[in-house]
Amino acid sequence: MNAMNNREDIEVDLFLEGIFRLYHYDFRNYSRTFIKRRLNLIKTLLQCESFSILQHNVLHDPLIMTKILNYLTIQVGDMFRDPGYFLSLRQIISSYLSTYSSIKVWIAGCGTGEELYSLAILFREEGLENRTQFFATDINYEALKRAEAGVYGMDRLESFENNFILTDPKHSFSSYYTTKNNCIVMDSSLKENVVFYNHSLVSDSVFAEMHLISCRNVLIYFDDSLQERAIGLFCDALVRKGFLGLGAKESLYLSPHASIFTEFHRKDRIYQKMAVQEQAPPRVRGIIKL
Ligand SMILES: C[S@@+](CC[C@H](N)C(=O)[O-])C[C@H]1O[C@@H](n2cnc3c(N)ncnc32)[C@H](O)[C@@H]1O
Repeated sequence: MNAMNNREDIEVDLFLEGIFRLYHYDFRNYSRTFIKRRLNLIKTLLQCESFSILQHNVLHDPLIMTKILNYLTIQVGDMFRDPGYFLSLRQIISSYLSTYSSIKVWIAGCGTGEELYSLAILFREEGLENRTQFFATDINYEALKRAEAGVYGMDRLESFENNFILTDPKHSFSSYYTTKNNCIVMDSSLKENVVFYNHSLVSDSVFAEMHLISCRNVLIYFDDSLQERAIGLFCDALVRKGFLGLGAKESLYLSPHASIFTEFHRKDRIYQKMAVQEQAPPRVRGIIKL
């Protein structure tokens, strides 16, 4: 590592420490490559010569923090993104989750809401909507507001419909939205059983027992220690035999928590918490105590 990189690393550390201490947004354990890439982009966009100048500006202007938050939290989503995942979930919903009299589903890092509406539609089509409570959480307040509004540009409709078709739907996608001002507006009844709120996988704790947690395309932005924290939260939150769904580029491979789960659908990154937690026998000075 050369001297320039060292200086940059120190500046990035101080920048992240500063926004954590003043605004309580904790990006200190996000993937360093991701953070540096995004901060370099922000530095250019805000015409700052260095991270130190960017740090000075953000510490003196909360509005800049809002802009920075939007760059550090990527809001790319699609309805029924990776349709195979939702097709597998449809089967899990009808065969497993339908056995519960009341169901709790947590969409962690829900972004602008596409993943939530995809799940709400599946639960409605499988007849479980009325006994399901959804929790849609994120650290980005603006994204949460957009998720709650459920309004998407008309230009996205084709992709939404193409994905939906691949999930073995019972109705047409057009049953779930109306149009207004060249936008599609998701049917407001889909969010009747949804609670939207601000929750950070970095610093907040578990808030209810869940039967399904869908956390897609969030862990990729975290470093190993933070991924462990988040997966630990999911372990604590899930009921025995509850399901965890991750994004296409995420997995429990190499996670210390992997032994608590079975791979339910390897390709679709769906895991099931085991019925009985298998624990290694306690060891005393290297000897297994029976
Ligand atoms: C790429 S989006 C994924 C949205 C959605 N899950 C999907 O796959 O369509 C990543 C989301 O993770 C959220 N996020 C980032 N850090 C988070 C944290 N510490 N706790 C909760 N959400 C977080 C971001 O604000 C963003 O909305």
